[in-house]
Amino acid sequence: MESNFNVDQFNSIVQSRRSVFPYQFIPGKAVPDEIIWQILDNANRAPNHKHTEPWRFTVFAGEGLQRFSTLQSEIYTRYAGEKFKEAKIKNLVEYPLMSSHVIAIGMKRNEENKLPESEEIIATACAIENIYLSATAYGLGGYLSTGGITYFEEAKAYFDLGPGDRLLGFFYLGYIATPATSLSKREPVKEKVKWIKN
Ligand SMILES: Cc1cc2nc3c(=O)[nH]c(=O)nc-3n(C[C@H](O)[C@H](O)[C@H](O)COP(=O)(O)O)c2cc1C
Repeated sequence: MESNFNVDQFNSIVQSRRSVFPYQFIPGKAVPDEIIWQILDNANRAPNHKHTEPWRFTVFAGEGLQRFSTLQSEIYTRYAGEKFKEAKIKNLVEYPLMSSHVIAIGMKRNEENKLPESEEIIATACAIENIYLSATAYGLGGYLSTGGITYFEEAKAYFDLGPGDRLLGFFYLGYIATPATSLSKREPVKEKVKWIKN
């Protein structure tokens, strides 16, 4: 059967996807919430084993960005301990304020279907790639950050995540002022593939 889709366009979305950072965003220009909902609905279509749908999203927008800025810098300051670096605070405070939306991404364990944890992380990673590709298709910039408070046990509760769940990172989104000027660098796929045909 012929494809119903424009494959050239799809390939070009995937190939041209880049991480775009908040300092590359148009300051103060908000993405309509309807677009964010569509992006999240695309994330919600990610493949997942046993229908566990482990991804959870907390969306910060409008005044909520200031709240997130304060929240993550306070959690970092309070719990970083020996790893505390003053220089990190600046981005934790400023990046949310340069963004249109920030989406905290959690992986919630399904109590009935205890799959291997890796499967739930893989499913949530698929949801993240759907966010990346959707943002690209909409002409938006964004990137996944796993810095700051991502791996702080104490941060989980703020995102309705329990001890067995995981906070996987924060997706920053905005309109692009300064686009990436080249495709993302990759070593040839041939170096990573082995074919067996007989
Ligand atoms: C799991 C994961 C975690 C990441 N964490 C960070 C991060 O903490 N800080 C950052 O600057 N970029 C982060 N990135 C974005 C990468 O830097 C980016 O994907 C990489 O440089 C390749 O560029 P590209 O996305 O434009 O292809 C992360 C990406 C992934 C997939």
